[in-house]
Amino acid sequence: MSFTEDIRGAINCRIAENEPMSAHTTLGVGGPADVWVEVETEADLATLMSLIHEAGMPWMVVGDGANLLVSEKGIRGVVIAPKGQFAEIVVDGLRIRSGAAARISAVADIAAENDLIGLEGVGTVPGSVGGAIVMNAGTHRGYIDAVTESVSTITEDGRQVLLTKEDCGFTYRGSRFQTDHSFIIASVVFAMQPGDGAASRKHLEEVRRHRADTQPPGRSAGCFFKNPGTSAGKLIELSGCKGWREGGAIVSETHANFIMNTGNATASDLYALAERVRAAVREKQGIELEYEVRLAGEW
Ligand code: EPU
Repeated sequence: MSFTEDIRGAINCRIAENEPMSAHTTLGVGGPADVWVEVETEADLATLMSLIHEAGMPWMVVGDGANLLVSEKGIRGVVIAPKGQFAEIVVDGLRIRSGAAARISAVADIAAENDLIGLEGVGTVPGSVGGAIVMNAGTHRGYIDAVTESVSTITEDGRQVLLTKEDCGFTYRGSRFQTDHSFIIASVVFAMQPGDGAASRKHLEEVRRHRADTQPPGRSAGCFFKNPGTSAGKLIELSGCKGWREGGAIVSETHANFIMNTGNATASDLYALAERVRAAVREKQGIELEYEVRLAGEW
C-alpha cells in the first residue's frame, strides 16, 4: 500500500497528491505539496502524525496561509491543513477554547459578544489562531501571548501534550513553534477578563477600519518584514522602494511593508523583490530587515 492509501485507510480526511500551494496561500503563489491532508479531529491528527512518523516523512502545518511564501518548487513531504473540529470556538465562563484553524478575528468577535476582553490587539490581524500563536501575532494594543493560558498540541509522534504559556516561549513576533517543530497546535485556551464588550467591539471595528485605510487590499501576506524597532514600512518608503516591481510583484504604494502579487507574480518574483528591498534598506538606512513572512518549500 502507498503512504497516501495508508492514510486514507486510517482516518477520515481529504487527501491529495501534488496539491498546488497557490490555492492555499493569501499570496496565491507556490508549487505543489507532495501530499496534502485536510484533517478534522484531534484523534485523526494524532493517528496521522504516528503514520508520518513511522514513514519518516517531512511535514508542515498550514493554517490560513496568510503569512507564507511558498517556492515554485513546492513542498516535499506532507502538508497538514487542520479543518472541522479545529475551527470550533467554545466559550466557558472566562475562558475561550478555540481550535487552531479558527480565525483569530472570529474569536475576538465572539469574546466581545460575551463581554470578555483581552483579544482586542490581535483580533484585527488576519489569519488563524494556530498561525497567530506561532507568530505571537498582535498590534501595539497587545499580542496573543497576553491572554494565552495553554496550548493543546499533538506531538510529531502522535501524542497529546498540553503546553503552558511559559512552555510556548513567546517573544516579539516569535514563539517556540517557529524553531521547535515537534508539536502541532490543536487548540488554545484563552484566559479572558470580564469587560465592556461594546467598547471592545468598537475598538475592533475602528482598528479594522484603520487597517483598511492604511493597508492595501489584494493578494499579500500582510507585513513582509518584522519591525526593527521602527516601522519597516516607513524605512522601506524612505529608501525609495514604494512602487518597485519585479515581474508580477510590487511594493505597495499604500504601505511599503506589503509586497504584493498583482495577479501573475511567481514566488521568485516576490522573493527577488523582497531581497532588493532589503538591500536598499541595508544600504540607505544601515538596517538589516528580517523576514516576518515564513519562507516554505525548496528555494
Ligand atoms: N509608514 C510610512 N510608510 C509606509 C508604512 C508606514 O511612512 O509605507 C509610517 C506610518 O505613516 C506610521 C508608521 O509608519 O506613521 C507606522 O505605520 P503602521 O501604523 O502602519 O504600523 P507598522 O509599524 O508599519 C505594524 C504591524 C502591522 C500592523 C500595524 C498596525 C509589524 C511588522 N507590522 O505596522 O502588522 O497591522 O502595525 O497595528 O509589526 C502584519 O502583521 O502583517 C502587519 C501588517
